[in-house]
Amino acid sequence: MTINAGLEGIVVAETDLSLVDGTNGYLVYRGNWAKDLAISRTYEDVVHLLWRGHLPSEQESEAFRAELAARRKLPDYLKTIIAALPPETDTMSVLRTATSAIGNRGYAWPPTFEQASDILAKAPTIIAYRHALNTGRDPIEPDESLGHAANYLYMLHGEKPTRVHTRALDAYIILTAEHGLNASTFTGRVITSTRSDIASAITGAIGALKGPLHGGAPSEVDTMLEEIGTKENAEPWLRGQIEGGERLMGFGHRVYKTMDPRAVALRLVSDSFAGEDPWFDLSVHVEETAVRLLKEYKPGRNLYPNVEFWAAAVLRGVRIPTDLYTPTFGLARMAGWSAHILEQADKNRLIRPESTYVGEMPKAS
Ligand code: ACO
Repeated sequence: MTINAGLEGIVVAETDLSLVDGTNGYLVYRGNWAKDLAISRTYEDVVHLLWRGHLPSEQESEAFRAELAARRKLPDYLKTIIAALPPETDTMSVLRTATSAIGNRGYAWPPTFEQASDILAKAPTIIAYRHALNTGRDPIEPDESLGHAANYLYMLHGEKPTRVHTRALDAYIILTAEHGLNASTFTGRVITSTRSDIASAITGAIGALKGPLHGGAPSEVDTMLEEIGTKENAEPWLRGQIEGGERLMGFGHRVYKTMDPRAVALRLVSDSFAGEDPWFDLSVHVEETAVRLLKEYKPGRNLYPNVEFWAAAVLRGVRIPTDLYTPTFGLARMAGWSAHILEQADKNRLIRPESTYVGEMPKAS
């Protein structure tokens, strides 16, 4: 029996949702280039595309935006749960616990669009609500007149964001909305395949995204750039890391063996609003140096920047605090998780791989 550790190269589903082509560096959402959607559409339009199968008309777009906006407010019981979690609880754990609690209201299999909308719409409010409590501020109620990205920035910062910041965050959450059978999405599909409810599936997906090899990297990219500090320090610092057997955060990908198309798009987004920001300049220098050194130390491994490297620059640019980088990735990926959960339920088959026993057999009696 062949063992495929990490399930690399194993195809377990057909999907209409996205194409992730790691050889050519393509990312397609239902027949549309993700990079084009990132500059021409809102996050809500892309959620509509993923869930309903087509980009919305103007009328559908407004109706869907309003439906999600109307679902943003947190019920009192959820606020109580969020506030009761001990101060040391990280925000991904808060999001995981609160999402689980949303499902306590009688959610059952099969998943519905309404349940998916409810969880997706509330995710930014959960994060912003806890962030306000953590920083000693009064939580700000969601503003229904704002879109998904703008309202999130508004709840975090207490002021309406500029158009440039809204567009930059919209681009980021569109580019990270969906990405095939990554670890967290697969987790969601496995849970759904048992006919468990959507809140359980998304709760499990959040748990998978939390790990540093998946969604936990952008804040570590930030830390890496802080530690590097100057362009002159980049090469010795990066060499030291690689020679010490450490991985460079924001580089390498299981599927992309060329530039991650999301990283390419986010580099452009971040360039468009970075202005004279020395951070952008440093990011470009670190990217170029790291790619050169990874070629030198790890020949043939094809290690390039992944989405998380340039996500760090965009999230910093729109003033999202570092500890909210992964939760922000999570609120974006709610779209893809739900789309896969709905698709799995539609063509369900229990996901149940096998393992090979290599332990001892019982002694003959
Ligand atoms: N820095 C240095 N070396 C690396 C890196 C890296 N970032 N990534 C992979 N390598 C090396 C490995 O050490 C290994 O070298 P070896 O063959 O000499 O032992 C080789 O490249 C292959 O590595 P694998 O672990 O087999 O690659 P895998 O496909 O399992 O890993 C992963 C993909 C986990 C993303 C990896 O590249 C990594 O750890 N990157 C850093 C963390 C990161 O940026 N995560 C975010 C990913 S994007 C996302 O999830 C949204």
